[in-house]
Amino acid sequence: MDKVALVTGGSRGIGAAISKALQAEGYKVAATYAGNDEAARAFSDETGIRTYKWSVTDYDACKDGVARIEDELGPVAVLVNNAGITRDAMFHKMTPDQWKKVIDTNLNGLFNMTHCVWPGMRDRKFGRIINITSVNGQKGQAGQANYSAAKAGDIGFTRALAQEGARAGITVNAIAPGYIGTEMVRAIDEKVLAERILPQIPVGRLGEPEEIARCAVFLASDDSGFITGSTLSANGAQFFA
Ligand code: CAA
Repeated sequence: MDKVALVTGGSRGIGAAISKALQAEGYKVAATYAGNDEAARAFSDETGIRTYKWSVTDYDACKDGVARIEDELGPVAVLVNNAGITRDAMFHKMTPDQWKKVIDTNLNGLFNMTHCVWPGMRDRKFGRIINITSVNGQKGQAGQANYSAAKAGDIGFTRALAQEGARAGITVNAIAPGYIGTEMVRAIDEKVLAERILPQIPVGRLGEPEEIARCAVFLASDDSGFITGSTLSANGAQFFA
């Protein structure tokens, strides 16, 4: 296998699990990250996966970054739009900056990254775009008007682009994780997590990053060519879209 997979936010959390799982399948993986040099270095040392630093909010940086990866590793066949942030606050306390930052990373980042790999995928008549949305984009979550809006937008983006990519051999799908045991979820106040969130999850536990990574491997594979425009939920029965 010499296919190249690019995973944004691919050195930590769910992204790191996806990077490793794709590597185990034989992909040449490039993982991007925005800020945490130390975590990226440790991840590269542990896995041998190359990491690249830029922000998915910066279109020109995405363009340059994709060009560099294609130069070093080859054409990108699989793009996993995983990079995401939270700035949780009840709406009456949410600042314009909290709104903008989340929309810029979690929604505009998908435009920036996908737009840079799309022409090459169309030319080669093959591509896999996998967008990591969230149960909270499906059901909405109090304290996350910004995040829920962006993640719901990611699903609309997925469905529209699936139709455009269909004739060009490009599938576009979303994965909607529920609450997964990553730093992002562990940053929630312990009492809020225990009293408000865990009781909503019938399976009775947080998900594992590897459980999401297996969904990504499946959607990336050649065999999943008839699955496009779909949203694969992995949320422990918390919500049925
Ligand atoms: N529904 C309705 N009202 C709610 C509520 C809910 N789910 N949660 C809190 N409230 C109400 C409270 O009852 C309270 O009301 P009163 O003022 O009338 O008493 C008010 O909102 C303020 O609540 P808090 O004291 O909790 O407010 P806070 O400012 O201290 O904290 C918060 C707000 C940071 C948003 C906190 O509630 C929180 O962390 N909530 C969890 C949000 C969440 O699930 N984030 C997911 C992060 S992980 C992730 O995003 C990954 C993924 O994809 C799943």
